[in-house]
Amino acid sequence: MAAAEFVVVANRLPVDRVEGPDGEETWRTSPGGLVAALEPMMRSTHGAWVGWVGQPDVERDPFEADGIHLIPVSLSAQEVAEYYEGFANDTIWPLYHDVIAPPQFHREWWDAYVTVNRRFAEAAAAAVAEDGTVWVHDYQLQLVPQMVRELRPDVTIGYFHHIPFPAHGLYAQLPWRDQVLQGLLGADVIGFQRAQDATYFLTAVRRRLRYEVKGANIAVPQDDGSIRTAVARAFPISIDTAPYLDLAANPAVQARAAEIRASLGNPKRILLGVDRLDYTKGIRHRIKAYGELLAEGRLSVDDVTLVQVASPSRERVDAYVHLRDEIELAVGRINGDNDTMGHTAIRYLHQGYPREEMVALYLAADVMLVTALRDGMNLVAKEYVATRVDNRGVLVLSEFTGAADELRQAVRVNPHDIEGVKAAIMTAVEMTPAEQGKRMRSLRRRVLENDVDAWSSSFLSALDDARR
Ligand code: G6P
Repeated sequence: MAAAEFVVVANRLPVDRVEGPDGEETWRTSPGGLVAALEPMMRSTHGAWVGWVGQPDVERDPFEADGIHLIPVSLSAQEVAEYYEGFANDTIWPLYHDVIAPPQFHREWWDAYVTVNRRFAEAAAAAVAEDGTVWVHDYQLQLVPQMVRELRPDVTIGYFHHIPFPAHGLYAQLPWRDQVLQGLLGADVIGFQRAQDATYFLTAVRRRLRYEVKGANIAVPQDDGSIRTAVARAFPISIDTAPYLDLAANPAVQARAAEIRASLGNPKRILLGVDRLDYTKGIRHRIKAYGELLAEGRLSVDDVTLVQVASPSRERVDAYVHLRDEIELAVGRINGDNDTMGHTAIRYLHQGYPREEMVALYLAADVMLVTALRDGMNLVAKEYVATRVDNRGVLVLSEFTGAADELRQAVRVNPHDIEGVKAAIMTAVEMTPAEQGKRMRSLRRRVLENDVDAWSSSFLSALDDARR
C-alpha cells in the first residue's frame, strides 16, 4: 500500500469481526459516526486507520474493509489489562469524569500506557505520506501526538479528545500530569467537546508548564529554541444524521415502534434511558428518582414504563462490576414493589442492539432521560432528537453533558438533585403536545445543522490553517 496522506489513529478499529458459514473471518465496518464522518476523506486521500481489533493477542496484517485501509495494532492480554482496562479506563476515565469513581494510580499501568502509545505512534508514522496528516483520537492515546512528531516532524498532527478534560484541581492529582500535557501538545490542533474543557486544558498548560497562552494559542518551546504554536479549542462532535432520518421514516421501523409499545402494554408514556453501563451515566440517579415517583403515587405502572437499555461495557473493571450489581439490585426492588401481572415499572435490558432497533425505541419513547453525571458530549441525546421527525417527545438532559451547551430547549437537570430529576420527569410526562413541538423543532434544527460532517470539516479546516 502506498503511503497514506491521511491517517486516523484511534484505540479501536472501526470494524466488527464476523464469522462466515465455514468459520472464516471477515470484517465489517461498525456503524459509528466517526467512520461515517471520515469515510469520504479516507477514500479520496488514500486514508488509513490505525487501531486495535478489540481482542488480545490478535496479530493481523493490514487489510481493507469496505474500502478503508486498516492497520491493526496488537495488544497482549497483559497490555489489555494494564493499558486499556487499567490506565485508560481505571485511571484516566474516572479522573477526567470528575472522580465519580476513585481513579487508581499504578506505575506499571503508566509504563504499559507509554509502551502501547508508542506502538500506535510507530504504526502511524510508518503509514503516513511525506507532509501528510495524522488525526489522533481520544484519551487512550494522549501521548501519541508528541511521539508521532518526534518520528515524523514533517507531518501535521491533530488530536480530538472525546471525553471531558477535568478542572485543574483534579487534573493535578495525576502523577504523570506533565508528561500527558507534553504528549497532547505534540499536536498542532487539540480539539475538545466543550469550551470549558479547552479552558481547563489551557489552565493546566499555563500552571504546570508555564507556557505562554494567548486565547486558544499556546507557544510550545522546541528543542532547537524556536517556538511552535498549538491551538486548543472546542469542536463539539455530532452524529451522522442521514441514517437516523432514513430509519425514522422507514415504515418497518415505525411498525416495530408500535410493536414495542404494544408489547409493553401500550402505556400512556414510555420513558427511555440508553447508555453504556457506566458510572458516569447517572443510571442509578435516574432509577432512584423514578422509583420514588412510583412510591409516592405521582406515577403509576398502569400509565408509565421506563425502558432502560444498559449495554455491557468494560466488564472486567471492578467499578463496572459493582455498578452492575447496584443497578440490578435497584431495578429488582423497584419492579418487585410496583409490577403487576400486565405492567412493569422498568424493562431493563443489559444488551446491545443494532441501530434499527434503537431507532424503533427512540420512536416508541415519549421521554428520553439523559442524566449523566459527566459526559463529554452524549450522542444518544442527539440521536433521539434526530429521529423525532414528528416533532414530538421530550428530552430530559443533564447539564453536565457536552450536549447541554447546544441543546438549550431540553428540560435541563442536575442529576445529583433527585427532587429536581423527579420534577423534570413530571414536567416531561405532563408536557402538552404544543410545548413539545416548540422545543423539539428547535432542538432538531440544531442537530440537523450541526452534524458530524460539519464537525469533521471544521476540525480539518483548523488543521489546514495550522499547516499553513
Ligand atoms: C467512549 C470513549 C470512546 C470509547 C467508547 C466505548 O465513548 O470516548 O473512546 O471507544 O466510550 O468504550 P470502549 O472502552 O468499549 O472502547
